[in-house]
Amino acid sequence: MGRAAYALGTAVEVRVNNDSGFIFEGHEYSLLEALEAQDVPVLHSCRGGYCGCCRVRLEKGLVNWHQESLVPLADDEILCCCCTPQSDVSIILPEE
Ligand code: FES
Repeated sequence: MGRAAYALGTAVEVRVNNDSGFIFEGHEYSLLEALEAQDVPVLHSCRGGYCGCCRVRLEKGLVNWHQESLVPLADDEILCCCCTPQSDVSIILPEE
């Protein structure tokens, strides 16, 4: 499964919980991998779009889905394991 809509090397900013962000340069396969590389404590399990653990709220920006979600999501929710940022994004992690 590809990520054709994402131009590798296009850097965008990822902001988490309205805090300072980091730059996503497209080297990671998914937003989940990028968050892990930044030591952001995002929950995950299946990495395949079917458990829903990595769900976050997309407050601002656009993402490309490289894999379809297999769980129901609210209109403003995304699965980090299934997406890459398409523009600068701001995400809100679920409260523990
Ligand atoms: S880790 Fe299971 S849906 Fe993302």
